[in-house]
Amino acid sequence: MKKSDVIRAVFHSLLQEAPNKVWQPQHEKGLGFAPTNIALCKYWGKRDIELNLPMTSSLSIALPDKGALTSVSLHDQSYDRIILNDQEVVRDSAFAVRTSQFLDLFRPQKTGYLQIDIKMNIPVAAGLASSACGFASLVSALNDLFDWKLKKQSLSILARLGSGSAARSFWNGFVEWYAGVRPDGMDSFGEPLAFEWPELCVGILTMSEVEKPISSREAMQRTVNSSLLYGSWPKKVAQDLAILKQAMQVTNFPLLGGTAESNALTMHATMLSSWPPVCYFMPETIAAMHKIWKSRKEGLELYFTQDAGPNLKLLFLEQDKEQVQQLFPSVDIVKVFE
Ligand code: DP6
Repeated sequence: MKKSDVIRAVFHSLLQEAPNKVWQPQHEKGLGFAPTNIALCKYWGKRDIELNLPMTSSLSIALPDKGALTSVSLHDQSYDRIILNDQEVVRDSAFAVRTSQFLDLFRPQKTGYLQIDIKMNIPVAAGLASSACGFASLVSALNDLFDWKLKKQSLSILARLGSGSAARSFWNGFVEWYAGVRPDGMDSFGEPLAFEWPELCVGILTMSEVEKPISSREAMQRTVNSSLLYGSWPKKVAQDLAILKQAMQVTNFPLLGGTAESNALTMHATMLSSWPPVCYFMPETIAAMHKIWKSRKEGLELYFTQDAGPNLKLLFLEQDKEQVQQLFPSVDIVKVFE
């Protein structure tokens, strides 16, 4: 079976509507919001490239007020019109092509084009999971426009086909995305974890808003194909997932922060050992890491994680907010549980 047929079969098995009704708007507009998510245990490497099925499970926290708000309506032309933060996106740009190709997976052939209006309050493509909240909010907006009545688990499966990490962007708080074992990916979706940690804060340290030199998609594939160290990654993930859950259970912040930091650094180590090497570190990134390690030695419980970009996300508790602000005056602080 071709992968596109697998995707259509998955889509139609999730829907409650008859296949000929799936692309008929039930309102003038559909609206969806999705928070961005930051992985504490990363998704890095796919067992199926076309279905975005991950090699391992992963675990994230959502940033509740940072994300994407997307509105969709039918567009009376033979192309999708995409507006990102009030600016029309060029039709043959990578962003527009990726979005339209995603929609082509579900809509009837060469018809049903959309006007898509996306508003994001995070930098696009700088390692702050803009594709995760972008695809999750788009799928929620489609669910609204076409009245599919899908539950979040199903939306998570559909959004995953756009970008893997989007599978985790449907809930606030801690979310696990299961790797699953099925070839069609029906068991690979996100699920919220029933832990709350009201004091937990994330600090976004934006050191560069320039587009990343290589996409996470390409970088993870290169890692899987060329890094000898990648063989240890699944073991590291299994260990870290267990420790993170234990840390949540016993509310042990140093254990949570340290495990997240070590997980991110291990992911970057697999990238550095790829060929050609993948390096998302900028001089500012390294300088910030040293500052964090030094303050930690002096007693501050401050940790970081880093994705496919030069920016760091700081992890700390509310009681240390002022100290963190003094250390990094430009930091944007988000409370994970409001
Ligand atoms: C480093 O979800 O962007 O942020 O599935 O190819 O779209 P695709 O990749 P993407 O990768 C995210 C990688 C990461 C780690 C993570 O969020 O878990």
